[in-house]
Amino acid sequence: MPSNCLDINFVRSCFPTFAEPLAAKTAFFENAGGSYVAGPVLDKLMHFYRINKVQPYGESEILKVAGTQMDAGRQTMADLLGVPVANITLGASTTQNINTLAFACAPLVSSGTEVIVTDQDHEANIGAWERLCERQGATLVTWPINPQTGELDLNDFSTLLKPNTAIVCLTHSSNIVGTINPVEEVISRARPNGTRVVVDGVSFAPHQWPDIPSLKPDAYAFSSYKTYATHLGVMYVADDFLDTLDPQCHYFNRSYKNKLLDSSGPDHAAIAALDGLGDYFNNSHAHHFGNSDITLYQKAQQVSGLMHAHETDLCKQLLDGINDLPINIIGRNHCEGREANIALTSAKHSSAHLSRALAAKDIAAGNGDFYALRLLEKAGLKDTQDGVLRISFSHYNTTDDVDRVIEVLRSIH
Ligand SMILES: Cc1ncc(COP(=O)(O)O)c(C=O)c1O
Repeated sequence: MPSNCLDINFVRSCFPTFAEPLAAKTAFFENAGGSYVAGPVLDKLMHFYRINKVQPYGESEILKVAGTQMDAGRQTMADLLGVPVANITLGASTTQNINTLAFACAPLVSSGTEVIVTDQDHEANIGAWERLCERQGATLVTWPINPQTGELDLNDFSTLLKPNTAIVCLTHSSNIVGTINPVEEVISRARPNGTRVVVDGVSFAPHQWPDIPSLKPDAYAFSSYKTYATHLGVMYVADDFLDTLDPQCHYFNRSYKNKLLDSSGPDHAAIAALDGLGDYFNNSHAHHFGNSDITLYQKAQQVSGLMHAHETDLCKQLLDGINDLPINIIGRNHCEGREANIALTSAKHSSAHLSRALAAKDIAAGNGDFYALRLLEKAGLKDTQDGVLRISFSHYNTTDDVDRVIEVLRSIH
């Protein structure tokens, strides 16, 4: 029984957090900060800590079992993404993974070469490249936003792209603006130039599971603690890019491709628990589409389509419910081409006041710059510390959650 609609009751039953009194009474819109964790991920995490919390791999059975679980976690993440496991780096966070990648890019960047970053990105995908350019004597070039819309214009990119542009780093969708950037087009313009494209998918992946085989980026990074799993950074790096980079691992690990950019060795249990994310997508697929022997990558794409459609409906509900209020939406005030991640300011109240008013009614939505300080400055926000109120959705949010937000925002305007 193929389904074209997300079963929200099923979804919420997969997240044990909703059975807890605090989460049960909270309308949670802090998802861009970090999502709740799917049940199968929690199960695998607990299992590892309870049974196998040892230094993995070795001769004794307990070490072997721990290593096998970690291998399963890595393999499942690769299967979900439809890419070889050797091309996946698991790090403590995306900030750390991109920083490591930037160090590794030293052979590609020197005096006379340029690196493009955007004003729309989270600092994780700007600062690391700025520091690389400083170390290497290269030039950092900024792809500006349109200060009115907060959006990036492809024509500006074409003007900035030069024969000596080594790397372009951009976000798939900003954690403030929410517009889905034309990454395919950036890649197709950059590739003939020999320019590498590094995509920050942290804000995109929770709303639409990344389709790396179709996109074909040189590198793609996101954070699994925002995609209903454990606190890790996940980074794909294409073979021919990896081959040009300086290894950042211990010298004796250089023969292992998936260790080349592994500079930290994150929590073993968190890696093992990624296997549970495969179970979550698998179970969701079986529930919505029936039993099927398509790949995990295909299942994740199909389930993600349902999640995205559900979130888009909720996003529209919110935008329609507040469109007559003295509220400025950062980016598009409609859902076309954007994620369900709404940042706004009010003509009447500070963003902190909005956040407090929502919190008083058990609605979680924070305010601030969300580490996209350059974006807020370029968009002309006067008080960047107060910043924006951010209402970020996940597929487990309900129409009732959104009604509650609308009610509070209407009552104070
Ligand atoms: C768009 C974006 N990029 C990068 C990051 C950094 O991710 P991490 O916390 O895993 O370092 C964030 C974190 O919120 C983000 O929203």
